[in-house]
Amino acid sequence: MTEHHLNGVALPNEQGFFGEYGGQFIPPHLKKAMDDINVAYEEIRQQPEFQQELQDLFTYYVGRPSPLFHARRLSEQLSGAQIYLKREDLNHTGAHKINHCLGEALLAKYMGKTKVIAETGAGQHGVALATACALVGIPCEIHMGQVDIEKEHPNVVKMKILGATLISVTRGTATLKDAVDSAFEEYLKDPENYIYAIGSVVGPHPFPKMVRDFQAIIGKEIKQQAQTQFKQLPDYIVACVGGGSNAMGAFTEFLADDQVKLIGVEPAGHGLQTTQHSATLTLGKPGQIHGMACYVLEDEKGQPLPVHSIASGLDYPGVGPQHSYLKDIGRVQYETATDQECLDAFMTLSRVEGIIPALESSHAVAWAIREAGKLPKNVNIVVNVSGRGDKDADYVAEKLGL
Ligand SMILES: Cc1ncc(COP(=O)(O)O)c(C=O)c1O
Repeated sequence: MTEHHLNGVALPNEQGFFGEYGGQFIPPHLKKAMDDINVAYEEIRQQPEFQQELQDLFTYYVGRPSPLFHARRLSEQLSGAQIYLKREDLNHTGAHKINHCLGEALLAKYMGKTKVIAETGAGQHGVALATACALVGIPCEIHMGQVDIEKEHPNVVKMKILGATLISVTRGTATLKDAVDSAFEEYLKDPENYIYAIGSVVGPHPFPKMVRDFQAIIGKEIKQQAQTQFKQLPDYIVACVGGGSNAMGAFTEFLADDQVKLIGVEPAGHGLQTTQHSATLTLGKPGQIHGMACYVLEDEKGQPLPVHSIASGLDYPGVGPQHSYLKDIGRVQYETATDQECLDAFMTLSRVEGIIPALESSHAVAWAIREAGKLPKNVNIVVNVSGRGDKDADYVAEKLGL
């Protein structure tokens, strides 16, 4: 892992800022805890033994590299660009989340922490963290909104089997934002001994940097696989954006390659003209949430708005600070897909390629399905399939009456 610069700008700078976004908007005692995590992370990431341990876990535990699969039938049907799928859904635990959870769990062990706390939306981060904690041998506590608990039953059961303590959050809309608030409160009880393993490239510095670094393996592999499989860089890389970890993972390696178009897809829910969406970068404005400055969907009083997406892992009123910066400088283009487009993409990929994607990932698939036909056949689109859809299968079947 190396320092990240773009056009001579350090991302983030020493204070954890990506331009005007990021930083640490937290009480002083928490600032010390975050600074300790940053120091420990900077120490550990320089150590060849740590890098080797993480690399070995990626290879022998997660099953990396995840394949880059040419979706031939889908590309032929759309009669345009070639669609390639980065199969993060094939990772152990079924999503990209395991990449940073292993890093965070190893860091917690290195720092002698006694409990790892986290929130989860779709349950993928919760399962991945419970898995990493079981492997490393640290107690794990997961906070999850009651609405998501009911929707994502298979992941809830898995977390329990893996030995995690599950806290059901019933306040507010009982979804992801409320789970973050609840987990944060628990963490504040003893930041010396606990660690809050944030599930995306969000929260106070150093989390947006650290989670990005652990996820950057996705883009590194895409670069190598693209060279081997189609002998050039991809023309487009597409990923869904909730907090933004799978997208930062896919984009980071390509930020300086201007010819590669980077597309982040946000959830438009029932439509951008309604209040039922979670398109933070598309319709939000700069503000603060959960200890960071970033784009936020908020009311006139600065309170986060209730948000909605069919994908539990995407309904968050904030977004990673680096995405906020990349939007402002125009390096990444942020688009949206509705719940309906997402459902259609979920079914199309399942029936045309035999791959059931997570509802989160289906947003990125939906963009590719919408755009591929408008592009020539020699254009390559890499879609990051951030997770598999087993967790969503019952919900979709009920919704579509299957
Ligand atoms: C499969 C999958 N993809 C994407 C996300 C969204 O997170 P992020 O934007 O941090 O990648 C989640 C979150 O739970 C997820 O489970």
